[in-house]
Amino acid sequence: MKVDVLLGLQWGDEGKGKVVDVLTPKYDAITRFQGGPNAGHTLEFEGQKYVLRSIPSGIFQGGKTNIIGNGVVLDPILFRQEAEALAASGHDLTGQLCISKKAHLIMPTHRILDAAYEAAKGEAKIGTTGKGIGPTYTDKVGRNGLRVGDILHNFDEKYALAKKKHETILKGLNYTYDIAALEKEWFEALEYLKRFRLIDSEHVINRLLKEGKSVLAEGAQGTMLDVDFGSYPFVTSSNTVCAGACTGLGVAPRNIGEVYGIFKAYCTRVGSGPFPTELFDETGEKLCELGHEFGAVTGRKRRCGWIDLVALRYAVMINGVSQLIMMKSDVLDGFDTIKACVAYRVNGEETEEFPFDICESVEPVYVEFPGWKTDMTKMTSEDEFPEEFNAYVSFLEEELGVPVKIVSVGPDREQTIVRYED
Ligand code: GDP
Ligand code: IMO
Ligand code: MG
Repeated sequence: MKVDVLLGLQWGDEGKGKVVDVLTPKYDAITRFQGGPNAGHTLEFEGQKYVLRSIPSGIFQGGKTNIIGNGVVLDPILFRQEAEALAASGHDLTGQLCISKKAHLIMPTHRILDAAYEAAKGEAKIGTTGKGIGPTYTDKVGRNGLRVGDILHNFDEKYALAKKKHETILKGLNYTYDIAALEKEWFEALEYLKRFRLIDSEHVINRLLKEGKSVLAEGAQGTMLDVDFGSYPFVTSSNTVCAGACTGLGVAPRNIGEVYGIFKAYCTRVGSGPFPTELFDETGEKLCELGHEFGAVTGRKRRCGWIDLVALRYAVMINGVSQLIMMKSDVLDGFDTIKACVAYRVNGEETEEFPFDICESVEPVYVEFPGWKTDMTKMTSEDEFPEEFNAYVSFLEEELGVPVKIVSVGPDREQTIVRYED
């Protein structure tokens, strides 16, 4: 068997959590391969809403193995809070969740460094989630990181050395902080972590594949936040693209199967950085209001705009997307007109290719569609789709060269229409 990958094609928050939960019954194991608690994946079913940050979205369907892979960065404090909240709501994960010994640990000083670097950038700040993601990945690549497996042997020594390095940097930045309480909580959370199976996940995952078991890899963030291919430097610090599933799980490229690319019927972004189709008018406000576009974890208001097919085509290409999943189409239910950006005008010249720099001088070129003006939230089959909606979907399929397998018409698990089975 192969690993199927589900990942975001825009700037994150496309609805990955919801769809992973919907697809989970088809799989034996669900894995996370990159990112950390910067993610906020929302699931809704049976009148309950859950937000997951480090834990894969396959935990609610029972009897599945959920794995936090080596490519993830883990904050023991936030992980503990997440796992304890789930246990309190009747979802005890201790037998169901495994963590790679090679996943890197987010230290208290990584969080402080994240804040210090952002403060030092001033106006040019990235608008990070403040979870220490950048500094932790920096230490990983710089070969200074601490891994989950390290907590099993001589950990205090390794910790002290890493902390000292951070203190020197913070001193240089003239950044004052007090982490005594946070540090105590962190060490207690490390003990809590030991209740879970700490595994060599690359062996476990490859064994599953050999035994004919099916595995789904759940992306975090989105392609436009990828450290190599996103809107650099306004990106996260991991490879959010499909290739990240290979390095973040220890799976060979030829063992990747379907690549599900997920996108909103419009577009959002949270944090700083360029966003060519961003709307600063009433339409943008309407998208924000109808789509409840506020961060799942930070509560920050998301910037809203029309769908960007230049960026989406690029994302489809980089990821080798084989099937598309369109989310939040219901948010557009009441619009008279819907726009899609098909090209950028840069210095007077039109391009359909995603450029090196999507700076302010990029002007979107739009095509317009009549809205469907129909409430789609209770629809259960594509036979009910309005004609105008079908025209919009067909246009997107043609532009992107990939079929739309699933259409989501609301946040609930049930509000999902699968257009065809594989
Ligand atoms: P993720 O990070 O990709 O998992 O997405 P988030 O959970 O951060 O953001 C998606 C938001 O949209 C959540 O509040 C979901 O409950 C909600 N959502 C998901 N699918 C739909 C949909 O089809 N329609 C509407 N209206 N909301 C949706
Ligand atoms: P999910 O998985 C949306 C954004 C931050 C910031 C940039 C860098 O829920 O889709 P970081 O803390 O990673 O160093 O921040 O990336 N960002 C996200 N935006 N959804 C996410 O995750 C995000 N994770 C990070 O807002 O602009
Ligand atoms: Mg999110």
